Amino acid sequence: MSTIREVAIRAGVSSTTVSHVINNTRFVSEEVRQRVQAAMIELGYHPNALARSLRRGETNTLGLILPDSANPFFAEIGHSVETAAFSHGYNVILCNTDGDVDRERTYVDVLLKKQVDGIVFVAAGERSDSISHILKLEIPIVVVDRDLPEVQLDTVLSDNYQGGYLATQHLINLGHRRIACISGPSHLNPSALRVTGYKQALLDAHIPVYDHLMRQGNFHPSSGWQATLDLLTLPEKPTAIFACNDLMAMGVLRAAAECGVRVPQELAVMGYDDIELSSYTTPALSTVRQPKAEIGQTAVRMVLERIQNKDIPPRRELHPAQVIVRGTCGGQQ
Ligand code: RIB
Repeated sequence: MSTIREVAIRAGVSSTTVSHVINNTRFVSEEVRQRVQAAMIELGYHPNALARSLRRGETNTLGLILPDSANPFFAEIGHSVETAAFSHGYNVILCNTDGDVDRERTYVDVLLKKQVDGIVFVAAGERSDSISHILKLEIPIVVVDRDLPEVQLDTVLSDNYQGGYLATQHLINLGHRRIACISGPSHLNPSALRVTGYKQALLDAHIPVYDHLMRQGNFHPSSGWQATLDLLTLPEKPTAIFACNDLMAMGVLRAAAECGVRVPQELAVMGYDDIELSSYTTPALSTVRQPKAEIGQTAVRMVLERIQNKDIPPRRELHPAQVIVRGTCGGQQ
């Protein structure tokens, strides 16, 4: 068990200075503060002490960890989080992990050194080692979008199973029977749940689930484009494609155009997320709305409430999905 004295020696300061950093009881320069905190983390200084220093940090700063800040879905979530935080007098430090759990862990350490008061967290992958690190430090955290059911934390999700089901049911109701599905990364639970909803909607309509109509994408447009070029070579082409996010659906539209397949006359297309761009494709993209603004606001509300009271029981909020019908599906507009 490391001591304050060992931290002081490691950081090249007095034990008194270490105590001031932990308790935020006297001005300490940012350079010294960061040296002391780095020493605490390197020596694994008793987590409770470090958490105490974080709690008393009173930096009015939140950390926001996103897996892909270039994806408009996360950009819109980030905008909502920052707007809500700012309205409550908090600043936000944005960390983009690019879906890399090692980078995610690095950013968690950066946020701890910065003494953020809480973290809004979208996991890079299904398993997040960073969570156990954060839990030890008892820093307020809200999990968003990608569920981490193995830990009891404040969580804000949208109903991905319902979204996949309703998207597919909409296409079935338009008369489609050969409905392809382009999933996101299979290890991410939002995509897996959407695919489960897709399959259940087919089964409930007594339509077989065909493996040859399933493709796995990576949530980027190129994977939707590539998957569609492949699907359109099938002897019996799909008459509809459900892409598990809007960016892949935009790749679908490009592939259909390149192959001279008319949308929606010859191919209906359904996306997921309802990013702002989805209403500006030609035709405008039918999709499943994720309430991004509400999700961001809920996450900030939860994390600020927990900063004020760490003893609140963990909360889970599930926001309903909603089909947004535009031009790429045909039928009623
Ligand atoms: O577009 C990015 C996708 O990853 C979204 O559907 C969101 O749910 C996230 O998991």
